[in-house]
Amino acid sequence: MNTKESFAVVTGASQGLGKAFVESLARKNINVILISLPNQHLKEVSEAISEKYNVKTYYYEVDLSIKENVLQMTVWLNKLFDIHILINNAGLGGTKKFLDASFGYIDNILQVNVMATSLITHQLLPNLLKQPQAYILNVSSMAAFSPIGFKTVYPASKTFIHSFSRGLHEELKDTNVFVSVVNPGAMKTNSDVCERIEKQGFLGRLTLLDPNKVASYCIDQLFKKDSVIMVNPISWLVMKMLPIWIKLPLMTNAIRKEIEA
Ligand SMILES: NC(=O)c1ccc[n+]([C@@H]2O[C@H](COP(=O)([O-])OP(=O)(O)OC[C@H]3O[C@@H](n4cnc5c(N)ncnc54)[C@H](OP(=O)(O)O)[C@@H]3O)[C@@H](O)[C@H]2O)c1
Repeated sequence: MNTKESFAVVTGASQGLGKAFVESLARKNINVILISLPNQHLKEVSEAISEKYNVKTYYYEVDLSIKENVLQMTVWLNKLFDIHILINNAGLGGTKKFLDASFGYIDNILQVNVMATSLITHQLLPNLLKQPQAYILNVSSMAAFSPIGFKTVYPASKTFIHSFSRGLHEELKDTNVFVSVVNPGAMKTNSDVCERIEKQGFLGRLTLLDPNKVASYCIDQLFKKDSVIMVNPISWLVMKMLPIWIKLPLMTNAIRKEIEA
């Protein structure tokens, strides 16, 4: 397909894994629309990618925790672009005692991780269905495979993304839209994440991933039509094999260390 006339949309594109996705796509000569929160230097990131890889880039700054913003953004995207790749990467979490978490903290995680992912996918699907071949990649987490105390809402939201992606994959399997999900473990994406991983001790550091390698592997696997992309196969196997009565306290204790540190 002539990707010169079609675009990939990446949310959370200004930094971390999202930016790495943008670079991996641009390296393959794919035009990209970058989405991020305002004031993240997105214009500069977008222009630098366009110049470095000689692809077309556009950008849109938006707070994805607000439903009306999400709808406005998808209207803009559908009006102006043919979209053949959607990467729902924006997502956030954190570590807190549930009682200490504010309403805003909980709401933000649910709105960005659950609402925005579902709504963007829903609103862009008609556009994706019009393309000769289209792809959706949703970013879940290794945390989707176990409930975790002191994180509570985040792993639950990532379990939602995993389940949503697999269900949609099955529903769309006879169409031109291929749906995939990736469940990465910890990645060195920003100073906050790095600091948190350090506090988790040996277990946290053991499975640390490079976001650039994760992004480039994911894009390759997406085009090979891998519906569940494994970036930490050993951790995944351990998570799958361990019974819940072992992994739940194990994971929770690792996170408790983070709070106590
Ligand atoms: N880092 C890890 O260890 C790890 C492990 C497993 C899964 N993941 C998942 O991988 C994805 C990217 O993680 P990351 O570590 O690269 O990101 P991050 O540094 O934790 O930043 C959060 C991401 O979500 C976006 N975002 C947050 N709130 C938003 C809002 N209200 N509106 C719009 N965008 C918002 C940010 O994009 P902008 O700053 O560009 O606006 C950013 O990409 C997330 O879904 C995360 O859950 C990360």
